[in-house]
Amino acid sequence: MSDQSATAVACANIALIKYWGNRDAAQRLPANGSISMNLEGLFTRTRVAWREGFKEDSLIINGLPVRGTALQRVSDFLALVRNMAGMDWRAEVVSENNFPAGTGIASSASAFAALALAASIAARLDLEPAALSRLARRGSGSACRSIPGGFVEWQAGAGDEDSFAASIASPEHWELADCIAVVSAEYKTTGSTEGHALADTSPLQAGRVADAPHRLDICRRALLSRDFDALAGIVELDSNLMHAVMMTSTPPLFYWQESTLTVMRWVREWRLGGLPVCYSIDAGPNVHVITERAAAGRVADLLGAVPGIQKVLVAPVGGPARLVK
Ligand code: PMV
Repeated sequence: MSDQSATAVACANIALIKYWGNRDAAQRLPANGSISMNLEGLFTRTRVAWREGFKEDSLIINGLPVRGTALQRVSDFLALVRNMAGMDWRAEVVSENNFPAGTGIASSASAFAALALAASIAARLDLEPAALSRLARRGSGSACRSIPGGFVEWQAGAGDEDSFAASIASPEHWELADCIAVVSAEYKTTGSTEGHALADTSPLQAGRVADAPHRLDICRRALLSRDFDALAGIVELDSNLMHAVMMTSTPPLFYWQESTLTVMRWVREWRLGGLPVCYSIDAGPNVHVITERAAAGRVADLLGAVPGIQKVLVAPVGGPARLVK
């Protein structure tokens, strides 16, 4: 039997303009467009081997066999690939995250981007970048942004066909870095799939979504002109807006811990003192502190000295998902 396997690597990404809420949950069509940057050095490596005659898909993550809902989510995703390739083989999936264990960094973006690339190539599908991004989107919305490299925009689109991500600038365009202040590795949060489903229960979501094109414009322009002050203002506003929606959903979602707010306050102080820094927070308590790469060492030291911070990870801007041997 010829080899029907492939291995791919994809980075995590941090949204500068956030995706929160779906117009269509099954297809993961987002309520609004988003912009992100890929995070070099925080990646998932995944090998997919399609097996003729196997009855079930199997999944190993970081050396441990996985069953239950996590396997079902991967299996539902693999069914999309089977359908596109017109075959009924099952797959063995072996995946590893290099994120230091227990840092609470979400891995679904890098995981489904690497899975989309490895599974489609192993199934002999040679998808165009847009089609690959659309496929990754079906596994986890933010995964569509880990297919292209550098600074990436996911256009909400009118439907499945035009809801995909594309690069708006290369990793070299602007030497930024994300210093991730790890507040808690243990804290159990509501996952984003459940969270998206609550977004429309907030009376603030409609306003957040209606204003998204305006924020996307400001962010895109700030990135293209390398204007850190403009970027800082819009990134913090957008993160605050998403958390306002989360906190006013039914039931409410409070992702911040005490140290999250402490870091947010310090970041504002440091910026007033002339340091190029701004914060962004996802569906968890850790704080992503965006800065210029030249200042990343200083920012990491400052963050490490804030009480309650367990560790700081530093990630420059990353490249696209790619195949490896
Ligand atoms: O792709 P998901 O379902 O994990 O959702 C991502 C949600 C946020 O990380 C909070 C925002 C974003 O745009 O990445």
